[in-house]
Amino acid sequence: MLEPANQSANPTLGAGRISPSESDRANFVVVANRLPVQQSFSEGNEEWRPSPGGLVSALTAVLQGHDGLWIGWLGVSDHGEPPPTYEGIRLKPVAISPEEYADFYLGFSNATLWPLYHDAIRAPVFHRHWWNTYQEINRRYATAAAESVAPGGTVWIHDYQLQLVPNMLRLLRPDVRIGFFLHIPFPPSELFTQLPWRREILTGLLGADLIGFQVPHMASNFSRIARRQLGATGTDSVLLFDGRTIRVGAFPITVDTAQITALALDPKIRARARELRRDLGNPEVVLLGVDRLDYTKGIQQRIRAINELYADGTLNGDTHVMVQVAVPSRESDAHYDLERHNLEQVVSEMNGDHGLVGSPVIHYLHQNLPFDELLALYLAADVMLVTPFRDGMNLVAKEYVTCRTDLTGKLVLSEFAGAASELRGAFMVNPHDLDGIKEAVCLALKAGPKEAKARMSRMRRKTMRRNVFDWAQSFLAALQQSNPAAPVDATDDPAPSQ
Ligand code: F6P
Repeated sequence: MLEPANQSANPTLGAGRISPSESDRANFVVVANRLPVQQSFSEGNEEWRPSPGGLVSALTAVLQGHDGLWIGWLGVSDHGEPPPTYEGIRLKPVAISPEEYADFYLGFSNATLWPLYHDAIRAPVFHRHWWNTYQEINRRYATAAAESVAPGGTVWIHDYQLQLVPNMLRLLRPDVRIGFFLHIPFPPSELFTQLPWRREILTGLLGADLIGFQVPHMASNFSRIARRQLGATGTDSVLLFDGRTIRVGAFPITVDTAQITALALDPKIRARARELRRDLGNPEVVLLGVDRLDYTKGIQQRIRAINELYADGTLNGDTHVMVQVAVPSRESDAHYDLERHNLEQVVSEMNGDHGLVGSPVIHYLHQNLPFDELLALYLAADVMLVTPFRDGMNLVAKEYVTCRTDLTGKLVLSEFAGAASELRGAFMVNPHDLDGIKEAVCLALKAGPKEAKARMSRMRRKTMRRNVFDWAQSFLAALQQSNPAAPVDATDDPAPSQ
């Protein structure tokens, strides 16, 4: 594990407007696109709240124990001054102008890399000026990390927006340990090699000592491509490149199982789940979808499949009700805008065709719901539908399984979500196959309590084994084993894959 915190470090260092002196540098630095806090307004007053998601809680605990500092973007392009610390962790904001936001965030990150890494579900767009800004912003994050990390410290870089940072940082600070984790899928060669800057991205990533992916085949995709494109040598789990050793492995992310279990047993949340069912008209079956409103999530296709089940009489408005939560996301991107438009069309068609006055068949919420409310929905749902076309992991599926402490509930899951390799008790679907989705929903509806219990037990056995803290610790433990200065024999295979 990481060395314990250097108690002499100043925990109240300001928000990074000046370069920290040597003694103010942190032993452990997290670099992620966003900071762990986000700005919100309550009655016109500015507030800073923790950003949602398991990553923040997982890394907060590790950062607190190790004199940590978090570098990231505020999430607003033109104003805002975050607090200097969050839960005792120093925050160092990286400024991104509105023009850079357009080219770096909406452009290269979310219109080039995001679709390319998600099976090119939308055609990736390649613009040289987006690439130039991506390099510039990555350099900004790398410089911030180089200024902030203590000699011999550890830097953990996250996700597709920052793939050049590992090597940029290595050139600035060869003394530090560098880990990189990709939260989204890493694509196969046929897709990745479309990228005009494929060699630069690979070189950027290979600056790390350890590169982590969600599932083993994504790690293998990467290593194979690095060997073919850059002449790296070694195995899928240990690469030799540029005189250095780079470890590559799978570290499947998960959720805070203890927190979710405690909340799922909270009488208030259970009462809210019963109230939700009442509000839905006490149907026999509640079907649920919860997704970020993203074209990779397969929401429209899933709703079309359910609509056909209403049309052919398999589902009935008196007994079956669906809830779809679509969390607003990347709203200034035209693809996301179109996705919302088309999704809302499908939802209204379904209610128009099969709903009754006062009894819609689908309840659609385009909202960012509080976590407690989401958990109440998970508890209220008999069948959970998670059908992305491609997903690095999908934590909604794991949250649902974690909530079902009484071993009820059925999960319909895309075979193209990273979570599918762990949640084998789900009703698996090819999300492109409408008939297949219909069949899986029918099987889930027909499965009796004994089969449902067996399937849920199988999924919970797997999910409850590790929590998100174990995920962070296992990555960091593997990173500490790497020695930036000493290449190891590539035939010795100490792969961190799990
Ligand atoms: O799944 C990748 C990811 O970047 C997550 O880390 C994040 O929660 C989500 O996509 C939405 O990202 P953003 O709103 O920062 O574009």
